[in-house]
Amino acid sequence: EKGGFEHFMLKEIYEQPKSIRDTMRGRLLVDEGVIRMAGVWDHQEKFLKAKRIIIVACGTSYHAGLVAEYLIEDLARIPVEVEYASEFRYRNPIIGKRDIVIAISQSGETADTLAALKLAKEKGAFIFGVNNVVGSSIARITDAGAYTHAGPEIGVASTKAFTAQLTILSLMAIKLGKHNGNLSAEKFNALTRELDAIPELVQHTLETTAEKVIEIAERYKDSPNALYLGRGYNYPSALEGALKLKEISYIHAEGYPAAEMKHGPIALIDENMPVVIIATKTGHYEKVVSNAQEIKARSGQIIAIVNQGDQEVRKIADYVIEIPNSSEEFSPILAAIPLQLLSYYIAVKLGKNVDQPRNLAKSVTVE
Ligand code: F6R
Repeated sequence: EKGGFEHFMLKEIYEQPKSIRDTMRGRLLVDEGVIRMAGVWDHQEKFLKAKRIIIVACGTSYHAGLVAEYLIEDLARIPVEVEYASEFRYRNPIIGKRDIVIAISQSGETADTLAALKLAKEKGAFIFGVNNVVGSSIARITDAGAYTHAGPEIGVASTKAFTAQLTILSLMAIKLGKHNGNLSAEKFNALTRELDAIPELVQHTLETTAEKVIEIAERYKDSPNALYLGRGYNYPSALEGALKLKEISYIHAEGYPAAEMKHGPIALIDENMPVVIIATKTGHYEKVVSNAQEIKARSGQIIAIVNQGDQEVRKIADYVIEIPNSSEEFSPILAAIPLQLLSYYIAVKLGKNVDQPRNLAKSVTVE
């Protein structure tokens, strides 16, 4: 059942080229210049007139929501708010009829996410689900939705569901941008062609980063702490990388927007602190490089995720992991791969129960 892999988590990490492809199948019709998503298109009035999109989710799905904030605001120019479902439901949120509330959930059973959606529905919002489990509670109460076709995710740490969520949310953002006039035909074509090729780039990333990641895991497995930094689209990547490390290796890790370092966390940096920094070429590269320099000046250990052929970061980093070049929009999908592998190999080297980490359950059906 593990298909020759030692753990479900590793199998699921390696399934991502396929799960992303499956999630796009029948939806992304590149040659026709069409993104087909019935859940969006059947309610086009709602989407095109939406004043605001509110995304509610927990854990890894929340991190996918944060990437969606960048995607939807950038490409479709619709204001987006992303909230932890548990906070949203208890803070008497202001929700109107022209708001769309999107719940992102692998299981479709997360109690807080379900309750947040019910509340939004009561207040008259249009509610939309991005779920992986067909027929789940969230899928059943939503007005519409789009399933991630990642297949069953058994490992408690979410991996392929996350990249499938990013895929659906990318499709939605590009589709909305096209129909509301914010994306030119050229940009639409360029993005859809690129997204269509992402599964091959994910495959390439798996093939080319694992060996380096294993070496890095060996070097840092005994560190008690780690920091993860990124900016823009890859700020959520930093949060997700830190969450993955915490949950399966039990190493304390924090994700931060790189520029927030100087407002406190930089005090933690010394020669024993590994700092994983996502420094891809698109986005805020120069700024991230200067954040990396600040860390190096304080003797921090830098593990950098960079694009192929990067020159600048290599000069200051202790380790570099190269991922393929891509637009900023899709870089979180590629950056996720070595971050997942890093947490996996550290946990394995520490002898932890990777597929069933202590204190965690696959679906959190109590609040
Ligand atoms: C992290 C993880 C959890 C879930 C969270 C939400 O690897 O698995 O943080 O992402 O419990 O679960 P879903 O997506 O099922 O609502």
